[in-house]
Amino acid sequence: MQVQLYHAGSIAGISTSENRCGILYVRSVPTLYSENTMNQLVSVTWHDNAVHVLDQRLLPHQEVVNAYTTVAGVADSIRTMQVRGAPAIGCTAAYGMALVAVTSTAKTATEVLPALFDAQRVLDASRPTAVNLFWATGRMMAHAQRNVEVPVAAFRSLMLAEAHAIFAEDLAMCQAIGRHGEPLIPARGRVLTHCNAGGLATAGYGTALGPIYRAHELGRAIHVYVDETRPYLQGARLTAFELQRGGVPLTLITDNMAAYFMGKGLVDCIIVGADRIAANGDVANKIGTYGLAVLAHAHSIPMYVAAPTSTIDARISDGSMIPIEERSSDEVTTIQGVRIAPAGVIAAHPAFDVTPAKYITAIICEKGVIRAPYGAGLAEVC
Ligand code: MRU
Repeated sequence: MQVQLYHAGSIAGISTSENRCGILYVRSVPTLYSENTMNQLVSVTWHDNAVHVLDQRLLPHQEVVNAYTTVAGVADSIRTMQVRGAPAIGCTAAYGMALVAVTSTAKTATEVLPALFDAQRVLDASRPTAVNLFWATGRMMAHAQRNVEVPVAAFRSLMLAEAHAIFAEDLAMCQAIGRHGEPLIPARGRVLTHCNAGGLATAGYGTALGPIYRAHELGRAIHVYVDETRPYLQGARLTAFELQRGGVPLTLITDNMAAYFMGKGLVDCIIVGADRIAANGDVANKIGTYGLAVLAHAHSIPMYVAAPTSTIDARISDGSMIPIEERSSDEVTTIQGVRIAPAGVIAAHPAFDVTPAKYITAIICEKGVIRAPYGAGLAEVC
């Protein structure tokens, strides 16, 4: 299958400022598909000394890949949510760091370091909540500092290899989350999920969708209720898209229908992803997750959080310390460029909320299933 690369600015609603941020060229390239059975699109790849980002803003209607040759461009692709989802952001940032090393004309590895510190600063400023971003740039920086005595050509290769390792490990972690989480889904289970924590949000397979894909691969009859996820519609645009591609039965619901379906006894469990997990088990995830957790509690429905250990922030004791991204009012007052609120009305737009650990039945990570009290369990896997 071919995808088209467009000149930035030629697509309605996309800022032409992208042209200044490293969009490299315009031509068709084959989309890379991951090697699982889910027929997934890959969110980010490295190719021809450039970071290729699938533009998720255009899904499900267009499959467009933008190639970036500057760290400013990579950071912009994260900030503007061409690539989103905590693990995918981390992988993209890692490739952004590798890009700086690979394209550097410095004569020694030591001379590359200042540019890498600058890149880390630029990438870290792109989005505040998902800790995987800071985890990935920190890991790339530590790798650089460890290898600063290596000849510069080898240093470039080592930095790229580390970014590839972060990507490969994330895919493997998602698959392990799938294996650990699948048994938690009851027979003929009806699972509700929020936002997109699937292959598009990771290196592949997904976190919250991992157990769902695993159950489907095993031939189990499951059904997924997909929250639309206002205001950015990650559920309607992305989760519905990738579950459908994977052949997983689904029903799309608007966010305010969740209580109705729970009240009717039609939801057996909830599985969501995470952007940051505090040491006590409080979880930041897409706005609306907290409300779902309270509803799940009221209906005695298990509420599972699926995330790799790169999403655990052991440095913060509880969720009150997690920075919550405030996004543009326009993303609430308009849908796909069409204004729905009266002109002049300003909307609030916290992009995430924090679910207290007491509402979470278990946290599924690549090392297994952690239950309360979370402090000890999370410390053990970190
Ligand atoms: O704003 P987004 O789309 O980046 O938010 C994504 C989420 O909240 C996901 O649930 C989370 O990052 C986990 S992705 C595996």
